[in-house]
Amino acid sequence: MEINGLSAIVTGGASGLGEATARCLAAAGAKVTIFDMNADRGPAIAADIAGHFEKVDVVSAANVSAALEASAARHGEARILVNCAGIAIGEKTVGRDNIPHDLDRFRKLIEVNLIGTFNVIRLATARMAALEPLATTERGVVINTASVAAIEGQVGQVAYAASKGGIVGMTLPIARDLAGLGIRVCTIAPGLFLTPMMQGLPEEVQTSLGASVPFPSVPFPSRLGNPDEYASLARHICENAMLNGEIIRLDGAIRMAPR
Ligand SMILES: NC(=O)c1ccc[n+]([C@@H]2O[C@H](COP(=O)([O-])OP(=O)(O)OC[C@H]3O[C@@H](n4cnc5c(N)ncnc54)[C@H](O)[C@@H]3O)[C@@H](O)[C@H]2O)c1
Repeated sequence: MEINGLSAIVTGGASGLGEATARCLAAAGAKVTIFDMNADRGPAIAADIAGHFEKVDVVSAANVSAALEASAARHGEARILVNCAGIAIGEKTVGRDNIPHDLDRFRKLIEVNLIGTFNVIRLATARMAALEPLATTERGVVINTASVAAIEGQVGQVAYAASKGGIVGMTLPIARDLAGLGIRVCTIAPGLFLTPMMQGLPEEVQTSLGASVPFPSVPFPSRLGNPDEYASLARHICENAMLNGEIIRLDGAIRMAPR
């Protein structure tokens, strides 16, 4: 679909991959609403891109429904939804002194990353379904964010990998459910990207993670992904009507080692 003039929602748009996507879609002419819990950064980014910010916890049906209503009133019904909201923790199945993984922390990861993503999809696409199709016969497009950890989760990533594996697994059935409504669904599985989530790690860890990416390589230094590279793929998925039901790795050919 042609992005210019369309209404778009980006969850997690107050930081990192979501922020880059919000900026990229706005630059392509979309009217962007950021759904994020971070009310410190979100409004300033929205103002910068002539967009709109809604304070939203993606897990809450009431929050998401109210924010969809507000965004529709402001920008028209969204035809583009990019799900970037997410959190990460590290904890082993059995930790030091044989202490089992905390079950509430496991539940929390599944709740935010998997159920939160599905919650926004189900509510946003129910509204897209009522729109007139575009000239391309599409009504809308949804882009989710998994991770290469869905396939190569490392030591301590059991909860995160399970949440992202759920996003990978639901991509095709949702695409099949929504195909008759003219709504496409794809998932990007990023490798290692330099975002605030990653910047929280010590610098030597960031450098060593960057060095583990096979491409780019000699004569260029290996490096972490740039959030703009994620945003540019999200934009392409919006524009290419044949992309549907697919998981796209964006990772410079990295295959994560056990640790
Ligand atoms: N950075 C990477 O290397 C990388 C790699 C693979 C996958 N990912 C995934 O990409 C997505 C974005 O990651 P990022 O690196 O940009 O992280 P980030 O921490 O920079 O941004 C995440 C955003 O999500 C928001 N958020 C968290 N929980 C929320 C909730 N319940 N409701 C609404 N908003 C919420 C945060 O406030 C934040 O603004 C995440 O799903 C992450 O798991 C990131």
